[in-house]
Amino acid sequence: MSPETSQHLQSLREHLEQTLKQSLELPETCPEQLALAMQYSLLAGGKRLRPVLVLLACEACGGSWKQAIPAACAIEMIHTYSLIHDDLPAMDDDDLRRGQPTSHIKFGEATAILAGDGLLTRAFEVLAGGLDDKAVAAACCVDLANAAGPEGMVGGQQADLEAETAGVRDIDHLEAIHRRKTGRLLCASLTMGGRIAGASPEVLERLRIYGESVGLAFQIADDLLDEVGDEQKMGKGVRKDASHGKLTYPALLGLEASRQRAVELIDRAVGALEVLGDQAKYLREIASYVIHRDH
Ligand code: IPE
Ligand code: IPE
Ligand code: MG
Ligand code: MG
Ligand code: MG
Repeated sequence: MSPETSQHLQSLREHLEQTLKQSLELPETCPEQLALAMQYSLLAGGKRLRPVLVLLACEACGGSWKQAIPAACAIEMIHTYSLIHDDLPAMDDDDLRRGQPTSHIKFGEATAILAGDGLLTRAFEVLAGGLDDKAVAAACCVDLANAAGPEGMVGGQQADLEAETAGVRDIDHLEAIHRRKTGRLLCASLTMGGRIAGASPEVLERLRIYGESVGLAFQIADDLLDEVGDEQKMGKGVRKDASHGKLTYPALLGLEASRQRAVELIDRAVGALEVLGDQAKYLREIASYVIHRDH
């Protein structure tokens, strides 16, 4: 990554940390334990990839990243809620996340479930309330709800659970799970950022292709890191997928073919941005980071 890009990403992340904190300054009507649990998970760090992509997509379409902050915060809240629920004993049963004990270990299962619910609903309040143009706000709410809901992340999580017992038929079946559980939310980062900048339907379609491809590559990298990554760097448990009977990319294709598939997807993503020229330079650079990361 060029020094200019990493400096730009660093300053976006710093701004995001501040606004995420402000977005969870809740009034006393919110029970203290619930507020603490929501803050605990949301403010525990994390790579902030999805919100950064919202801001970069807005810039790539000629907008100012500041306009897109409400959408960036909203998607990070949804993502964090999905992690809290993904880690629950009834799901992946993990006890380490973002380098600290998972929400249910720290606050108990019931409060962890409610903290997830709180982040999910607060996200739409922040999104709809934070964007000035109400037609754009409504379109972003549809993007986000669709990507997070039964046709997107939640549906993908259900399919992922079912595959633990019923098995994965083939690579297309696995890909369909990954596209929903991870790809769709990443895709919404791109389309929301583009909408806020007033992108044309043609450009939104390009962003969608980029988001879908990067999203799928991101989950392939996550599966690879479960096998070869380092728990300390990842801040979460590793070598868990096989013990849960999950059929992942490396389990189905092997390490090398999985890496190759991720590279192909990133090439497709970068190719989709050609129409945006130099404006999309940060999106181009971040695409390859997604598969070359170590956490
Ligand atoms: C982890 O997401 C869950 C997946 C969808 C693979 P991230 O790897 O983006 O987690 P954080 O936000 O950095 O903690
Ligand atoms: C989770 O996938 C995707 C979500 C929707 C949260 P994983 O179960 O592989 O994510 P990690 O490895 O626990 O972060
Ligand atoms: Mg899972
Ligand atoms: Mg998991
Ligand atoms: Mg994983």
